[in-house]
Amino acid sequence: MGSLNLYILKRRIRKWWKYLVVLIFLLAVYFGGFFHITGNISTTPPSEHSRNTMKEVFALRRQIRLLKSVLKQYSIPEKEYSDVLLPVIYVITPTYTRPQQKAELTSRLKSVFLHVPALHWIVVEDAPKKSQMVSNFLESSGLTHTHLHQSTPQEWKLKDSDPKWRKPRGVLQRNAGIRWLRSKFAHDANPRGVVYFADDDNTYSVELFHEMRDTHKVSVWPVALVGGVLVERPLVGSNGQVSSWLAGWKADRPFAMDMAGFAVNLSLLLNKSGVEFSIDAPIGFQESVFLEKLITQEELEPKADLCTKVYVWHTRTEQPDLKQEIRLNKVGKHTDEGIEL
Ligand code: UGA
Ligand code: MN
Repeated sequence: MGSLNLYILKRRIRKWWKYLVVLIFLLAVYFGGFFHITGNISTTPPSEHSRNTMKEVFALRRQIRLLKSVLKQYSIPEKEYSDVLLPVIYVITPTYTRPQQKAELTSRLKSVFLHVPALHWIVVEDAPKKSQMVSNFLESSGLTHTHLHQSTPQEWKLKDSDPKWRKPRGVLQRNAGIRWLRSKFAHDANPRGVVYFADDDNTYSVELFHEMRDTHKVSVWPVALVGGVLVERPLVGSNGQVSSWLAGWKADRPFAMDMAGFAVNLSLLLNKSGVEFSIDAPIGFQESVFLEKLITQEELEPKADLCTKVYVWHTRTEQPDLKQEIRLNKVGKHTDEGIEL
């Protein structure tokens, strides 16, 4: 009997051994031991953490494909985004704490800057110290960045009752950015690059950065939705130079344009010692007072098809309605408890 049982067992094994081998192999793979012994590939089931990392890598790969297609769409040659020798665009952004800050930094700036090669974002918080939110945001942004802070003294801060134009905004923060550049290039007589001042509530198009890339001195272009008109823009004469300004508000400013309407060559800015923004410039003359220290009108380089295309909009964001939040706060509830927005 015993030998019959053994015989049947042997036959069964002969019939099923392939399946058994596969089963044993799968078990070994699952528990990781097999490849641990061979020492080459660890197939331990991925931890939650590495599974998330893998998901992120796949998502980033998808994003790269998307970005490449966007660059192609704008006819930006591959050389432009793969060439490490491109002049870097240093974008200086003043920013301050408010409920929609992260939304602005995300949608209006980060999402666009990710499409721009060789961009270094200098974010300057108007605050006595750097905030955790902005630190985390920049760390995970995937952008080359520098995080600074510079608070505006109380006497230069807008009061709630003040109209917006009463005090200049972002001035000391832009200067902190310029100073950082001065110290970074202190030993470089002729650094290559471009400086652009990008407020955190404007709308920027990818092409804008393509236009400003080869700024020899100061380049200029139209800005939409500013100064009470649809477009404020430099007018270009037949000799290709800026002849005058089309603006509604204070059209007689020496440089009648918004902060978003020009970029400066890095060497030009750094080689003129001490050029900065003035907190006490007459209202509306912030840009003019700064540019007069650097350039004359004839030397400006008109971009965006001789200033006939709009690539930047001076948008503003509506204040969020937080009436219910305020009501809840009064009874000790905070909808943002334990969550960052
Ligand atoms: C207009 C111009 O577009 C600005 O470039 C210029 O600085 C400003 O006027 C001015 O007159 O000073 P506007 O839209 O009125 O801009 O100003 P905001 O967008 O409110 O502020 C400009 C920048 O300064 C923004 O990036 C903002 O985040 C920052 N800011 C604003 C601060 O850093 N601190 C503040 O208390 C307020
Ligand atoms: Mn603004």
